[in-house]
Amino acid sequence: MVDVYEKVIDLSRRRGFVWPSGEIYGSVAGFIDYGPLGAMMKRRIEDIWRDFYVVREGYYEIECPTIGIEPIYIASGHIKGFSDKMFQCPHCNEFFRADHVAEEYSIRNASSLSKHGLMRALTDQNCISCKKPLGEVEVFDFNLMFNTSIGPGGSRKGYLRPETAQGIFTDFGRLLRFYRDTLPFGTIQIGRSYRNEISPRQGMIRLREFTQAEAEIFVHPDQKDHPNFARYANYEMPLWGMDHQEGRLDPVVVPMSEAVESGLVANEYVAYYLALTHEFMLKIGVDKDKIRFRQHLPDERAHYAADCWDAEYFSSRFGWVEAVGIADRTDYDLEAHAKVSGEKMTVFIQYPEPRLEQKRTIVPKMGLLGPRFKTRAKEVGEKIAASHPRERGTYIILDEEEVFIERELFDLRDEEVLVRGEEVRPHVIEPSYGIDRLCYAVLEHSFYQDDVEGEVRTVLRLPPIVAPVKVAVFPLMTRDGLEEIARGITDAIKKEGILAEYDDSGAIGRRYRRQDEIGTPFAITVDYDSKEDGTVTLRERDSMQQIRLPIQDLPETIRKLIKGEMQFNKA
Ligand code: GAP
Repeated sequence: MVDVYEKVIDLSRRRGFVWPSGEIYGSVAGFIDYGPLGAMMKRRIEDIWRDFYVVREGYYEIECPTIGIEPIYIASGHIKGFSDKMFQCPHCNEFFRADHVAEEYSIRNASSLSKHGLMRALTDQNCISCKKPLGEVEVFDFNLMFNTSIGPGGSRKGYLRPETAQGIFTDFGRLLRFYRDTLPFGTIQIGRSYRNEISPRQGMIRLREFTQAEAEIFVHPDQKDHPNFARYANYEMPLWGMDHQEGRLDPVVVPMSEAVESGLVANEYVAYYLALTHEFMLKIGVDKDKIRFRQHLPDERAHYAADCWDAEYFSSRFGWVEAVGIADRTDYDLEAHAKVSGEKMTVFIQYPEPRLEQKRTIVPKMGLLGPRFKTRAKEVGEKIAASHPRERGTYIILDEEEVFIERELFDLRDEEVLVRGEEVRPHVIEPSYGIDRLCYAVLEHSFYQDDVEGEVRTVLRLPPIVAPVKVAVFPLMTRDGLEEIARGITDAIKKEGILAEYDDSGAIGRRYRRQDEIGTPFAITVDYDSKEDGTVTLRERDSMQQIRLPIQDLPETIRKLIKGEMQFNKA
């Protein structure tokens, strides 16, 4: 397969899709600027994502700060464990991610090796930069969060968020009230995340500042059947489960209902978002034949996750690239925040009918505890009340030591109480999208070159809804009133909320090529016949087919073509 990476990057730079950031000062790896066309294409992809999650699923969007205070990341585990294994070359002093270098030397399971394992694996290799022998390098953990201080004096530590998800978890109580205390509900966030990646060398794939689009869907732990699963029950796409990977077998293509019934996918919720993600990727222009869904192997899956899949696309330069992670994160995040914040992070679920239940209350005998425990009697009483008594007494922890409390020091009262419901900690289903990686996939997969009359024609075959400019309008000549007609058409199309670009510079063939290269799906040419009969030529980018139609039909026809409500040859 031809590596089109250089061509895609060259086009992106020349035509204003993506640029190195801060280029006049030399730039630094891991940061990019989206130029005028790139920013527009990215926004369109984000808006299509919103259509799927906000309009269709009904999950409202929130927007939280990109700087978070320390307790958030203590609770989430990022301060303790969000690190990559790194080493420094003893010769050129450059830093490298140890597992990535090991992978370049085809060392198996590099990402799951320990620090010592990586050090051993790298001992006989050469530095990938200066090519000198590495020897016994020290491999150490490097936390990927950028830190900062908040306010003057710097007393309050802050971190640039490494994922948008934490804002949704910390707002859980307020969101629950917003959704009127019922499950399931979902919330989304699209925004910048930051990771101080070690030596990022993969263009738009591994960035230090990037955009995530994440949905956190809170479900009852015992109810993981999706209410709209029927929508995707028969949907088929390539699933590469753990067993297939370990057995070195190809992904299987099965309906999602079968994937859930056979246990390949843990539950309907996860299956539903795998299928939705596949549909979304196709809609924005990722090549159907270059997508697969890979289940995490046991050694890469977080210990708390019930199931975890990556949506991957194939890139001619980077191989299989993870673009989206879809996980059943159980109650891990809410429990973690409950522990650190002291908030309940639960939902009260009412039973259909109140139930009569036996309740046992432990009543400490304060008259006996007082003389024995003196000033600490109240504390001991509370601990007894919360303990789990056995036949001869109960155990409590006092000053970090286990203390036995005899049965005579408390009473047990059994009574029947009317229970209306229970506190439940929801589980979280999380589809997490990397927008920049998807933008790159769309650019690479839509890049196309053919030969037209002995000249190379470069085309971005972007889906019309993703293309930054939707229509180009060309007057054949800049005289005899053709210009005015063309400008009038441009304005009429813009009035429909569709971005049209008027272009009268250069030969008509060159104007077509310019628009093909930025993915403009339709072009209108105003010629001398237009003056006579009020018709123009409409050309479709990929097929280069042309049709003639009345000027007054243009805005409506273009709108329908962009939305896919009409096919070009039926226009
Ligand atoms: N909340 C879950 C989470 O953040 P993740 O797998 O670490 O999960 C989700 O990230 C997605 O974000 C990835 O699938 C990837 O597309 C994107 N992503 C992660 N790190 C990135 C980076 N350094 N540069 C660009 N995109 C990145």
